[in-house]
Amino acid sequence: MAEIISGKVVSAAKREEIKNRVKQLNANGKQVGLAVIIVGNNSASRVYVNNKKKACEEVGINSYEYALPEETTQEELLSLIAQLNKDEKVNGILCQLPLPGHIDEQAVINNIDPSKDVDAFHPFNVGHIMIGDYTFLPCTPAGIMEMLKFYNISVKGKKCVVIGRSNIVGKPMAMLLLKENGTVEICHSRTENLKTETLSADILVAAVGKADFVTADMVKEGAVVIDVGMNRNADGKLCGDVCYAEVEKVASFITPVPGGVGPMTITMLLENTVRAVE
Ligand code: GUN
Repeated sequence: MAEIISGKVVSAAKREEIKNRVKQLNANGKQVGLAVIIVGNNSASRVYVNNKKKACEEVGINSYEYALPEETTQEELLSLIAQLNKDEKVNGILCQLPLPGHIDEQAVINNIDPSKDVDAFHPFNVGHIMIGDYTFLPCTPAGIMEMLKFYNISVKGKKCVVIGRSNIVGKPMAMLLLKENGTVEICHSRTENLKTETLSADILVAAVGKADFVTADMVKEGAVVIDVGMNRNADGKLCGDVCYAEVEKVASFITPVPGGVGPMTITMLLENTVRAVE
């Protein structure tokens, strides 16, 4: 039976530390502010944004929400970003993805001031991640590294397999594992013999976006399994990319959904926002 890697436990410790850093900044006359932009009516995005705002409040970060209608033009959105780039009370800018289809997401990301890019999605920050010298780390991969550290799980020399090659999770995850001296492989929808690859993993990160995609027969005995998925199954229940009930019998460590990676993603957003001021 695997030991649970609890994002709630690691988050609580980290958020306490962040709260103290915000207090210290406040004592020095500095406020910490995050602008959160949401465009349209995506219900999952609404839940994420509400959770992010609530987490800000809990640690003393001021959050400023900009909820824009679905029909907002790219020009209007870029004009808001230009205004927030200049706004001194705004230290971090987060534009919740996905954006409506008529807006070019990369163009939006490219227009956020890299020093306020708390998602670390801007090419400037992505480049720094490649080099291994950075201010901001993308929140989900950074949160996963914090969890591994908290549970004393060493990456050095380990075979790490990441399923998923998104710019938000898969690619930066691979870079962070590599920086910690893991032997890293990225698998994706075109990978041949995926099961052969995943069975070689000491550390397996699933960022696929498909409910119960990783089954027990794909996991090596004693592997560490990290589940980035956030899906609804046929009964409407929240579940990850990993079939938890069966994989927990094979893995040595596993993250649950909910209560695993999710809370850490938000915690690392808070970390980046405070770092933007510090
Ligand atoms: N949509 C899903 N995850 C994220 C994230 O980490 N940041 C932003 N901005 N949008 C997202």
